[in-house]
Amino acid sequence: SVERTLTILKPDCVRKELIGEVTRRIQEAGFKIVAMKMTRLTKDTAAGFYSVHKERPFFDELCEFMSSGPCVPMILEKENAIKDFRDFIGATDPSEAEEGTVRADFADSVGENIIHGSDSVENGQKEANFFFSEQQVTANKA
Ligand code: CMP
Repeated sequence: SVERTLTILKPDCVRKELIGEVTRRIQEAGFKIVAMKMTRLTKDTAAGFYSVHKERPFFDELCEFMSSGPCVPMILEKENAIKDFRDFIGATDPSEAEEGTVRADFADSVGENIIHGSDSVENGQKEANFFFSEQQVTANKA
């Protein structure tokens, strides 16, 4: 079925001037951009977004990194979007990511891994609501 996923072009993606290249690949792979913006998270808003990871040893580092510069969240729509997008970006650890995936091609480390993808339809909805209002989504219908 047609699903939505939330992606974030992370601060390393923006710093490396890869917004255009990664967005082109997203569209070429058949994901429709439903909403998109550039924003900068504070450490606190990053902590809110990643609250499920708050007990992890890397939590502080993750929040520092995600608030280290602007990022580009997008809502994407496609048949089977959740799984297809995770396949498209590659494994969290770029050294394990399949050849040709965004992370294999551009990511430096498990922490600075260029791009986020929701892990379920339910989380995708929550994450979309974190960044975008209903109005921002519907006002942008192509
Ligand atoms: P993601 O799976 O989207 O959400 C949690 C993020 O934490 C993950 O992407 C990585 O970017 C980050 N992460 C996971 N493991 C580590 C780690 N060992 N060190 C730093 N960051 C990590």
